[in-house]
Amino acid sequence: MTGLFTPYTLKDVTLRNRIIVAPMCQYQAQDGLPNDWHTVHYSALARGGSALVVVEATAVSPEGRITPACLGLWNDEQAAAFAPVVEGIRKAGAVPGIQLAHAGRKASANVPWEGDDHIPAQNPKSWQPIAPSPIAFGGDLNRTPEEMTLDDITRVKADFVKAAERARDAGFQWLMLHFAHGYLAQSFFSAHSNQRTDQYGGSADNRARFLIETLQAVKAVWPENLPLSIRFGVIEFDGRDEETFQDSLSLLKKLRTSGLDFLDVSIGFSTPEAKIPWGPAFMGPWARRTAEETGLPVSTSWYISEGRQADALIRTGGLDMVSLGRPLLANPHWPFEAAKAVHKTDPAFVLPSPYGWWLSRYK
Ligand SMILES: Cc1cc2nc3c(=O)[nH]c(=O)nc-3n(C[C@H](O)[C@H](O)[C@H](O)COP(=O)(O)O)c2cc1C
Repeated sequence: MTGLFTPYTLKDVTLRNRIIVAPMCQYQAQDGLPNDWHTVHYSALARGGSALVVVEATAVSPEGRITPACLGLWNDEQAAAFAPVVEGIRKAGAVPGIQLAHAGRKASANVPWEGDDHIPAQNPKSWQPIAPSPIAFGGDLNRTPEEMTLDDITRVKADFVKAAERARDAGFQWLMLHFAHGYLAQSFFSAHSNQRTDQYGGSADNRARFLIETLQAVKAVWPENLPLSIRFGVIEFDGRDEETFQDSLSLLKKLRTSGLDFLDVSIGFSTPEAKIPWGPAFMGPWARRTAEETGLPVSTSWYISEGRQADALIRTGGLDMVSLGRPLLANPHWPFEAAKAVHKTDPAFVLPSPYGWWLSRYK
């Protein structure tokens, strides 16, 4: 029976097990450039035994960064600087993936440990966020974005395409478009943030348009033999859950026929008023339902922290992969601990020989 350590093949990519390193911003870049921090961080995660390492939200344009310290792929210098990151992941036996993102109205913020709030507009480090409508997110992210013109929309779609080409040429083998978490794409889909009256706003079909067109445009340049995935918030937990979920399903079915290969099921984060029922693997049932209704292979994350719990989500929970964040920050060798818990036999195969050989002999 398929479990956490069963390999997974999608298109020409074979993953050695079902563990994804979820994209996690490091806020260590300058001018969007990856550096030693990123190479060491991502190589260590790959050495720990995870199968797919998805590099953090990487901005397709300068104004698409969440913070001044976010990674970018809007120029060739950045693309070249990703080479050691890709190589480090690949040499450790994992598949290198990357998440391409535009932060929309949540852009121009301080890094989490310096406030996680919008940088004041008068501070020269800040920039003007853009979004479907001039509506601020709220809370600490209260700067009002500029409404995007049709030219802006065309330009940002082209930025996604150019960044995807650079990711492809840099050797990434799995592309994830960030369509979740209240950033630009999700904010087109959500009525909380999109009150446009043109073809990109109003009905659910119109609010879906930016996401579908962006995926289709990226699809045209992303290799046919490599997985094209998205992360998308299927639900907001804002009291209108079933309606939003049905709209999400109809969007996802269209994305699937447009060439979407894989979906990470997540949360919308479009309003600070959401009441999210945090708890162990609480997105699992939503991910399963999404897979059943759309036919897409799925992963999800959020509070999956135990090996046997992760294994059960693959065996009987309807997930194709699990996506872990904080547990892998706490212990990049989490897959080794999971293998011990799941197999109760020699789990050394999960780690490279300089670690695994010793751990299997001297317990
Ligand atoms: C430090 C940190 C940075 C994150 N950055 C991103 C990101 O770049 N893109 C994204 O889609 N989610 C991001 N997230 C969310 C994680 O990918 C993940 O979904 C979340 O942490 C829940 O999984 P967990 O309970 O295993 O940590 C981030 C989370 C953390 C803790």
